[in-house]
Amino acid sequence: MNLKGRDFLRVDDFSTEELLHVLDLATTLKGDRTPRLAGHTLGLVFAQPSTRTRISFSVAMAQLGGMPITLQASEMQLSRGESLGDTARVLSRYVDAIAIRTLSHAELEEWADVATIPVINALTQDEHPCQALADVLTIRDRIGHLEGVKIGWVGDGTNVLVSLARLASRLGMEVVAACPEGYDPPADTPLTLVRDPAEAARGANVLVTDIWVSLGQEATKEQRLRDLDAYRLDSTLLGLAADGAIAMHCLPAHPGEEISADVLYSENSAIWDEAENRLHVQKALLALVLGAV
Ligand code: CP
Repeated sequence: MNLKGRDFLRVDDFSTEELLHVLDLATTLKGDRTPRLAGHTLGLVFAQPSTRTRISFSVAMAQLGGMPITLQASEMQLSRGESLGDTARVLSRYVDAIAIRTLSHAELEEWADVATIPVINALTQDEHPCQALADVLTIRDRIGHLEGVKIGWVGDGTNVLVSLARLASRLGMEVVAACPEGYDPPADTPLTLVRDPAEAARGANVLVTDIWVSLGQEATKEQRLRDLDAYRLDSTLLGLAADGAIAMHCLPAHPGEEISADVLYSENSAIWDEAENRLHVQKALLALVLGAV
């Protein structure tokens, strides 16, 4: 399957077969350090903070024999008025692919329109597709299959939920999301929306949540904490889930807010495997879009 030269801005940019191919290759490449990308460079353009995404992309390139270059938007001429288009044109002459974190999805699309190299979404307000790949790989690793799995989401209807629901629906999983009024995901997200967290949790094989105050939402923090208080992923909700259910969270976590510490650090928690899987899926994605497999 040839994904060379492709952008990955949204889950739906890839066919179901292509998404499964990335997951399968991620499993194959776990622990693999063959220098398939020797001489290749990945530009990491981050307008927002990141621990997992930036570091896992950097390590992925290193494990594949290539080199990452972190480009803080604030340290480039972008911050002094050089246009995004001209920056994309110039970077296309230097690096082989770019991973971009910016809140505006329209801005990411502008990068992709101008760049002549693969552009990868490292998180926008609309989607976090690399996170969704890692989430689904984690589910497959821990549960053993994907078809028929029930995912119960509790809390804010974030970009992480949107990408996870889009990927899960393509792979035969059911997503039931419990979000308070005012915190719904976009209406076209393929999931069942409920208001009662117990309804999302009951019989679920996977329980997932996300932080309550995302990047750019600090000004409304107190209101958000009040509105979301009944939507904490805790041991009571976990007790309603199916036997052997796993808890997931893309991190960073705020124990006591969206997830209780006893769930975050429990035997049911797949959260640390989920973080590790960011590395494996991004290795596969980079190898594929750079034509190295
Ligand atoms: N899950 C995630 O995207 O983490 P970072 O914000 O640390 O990259």
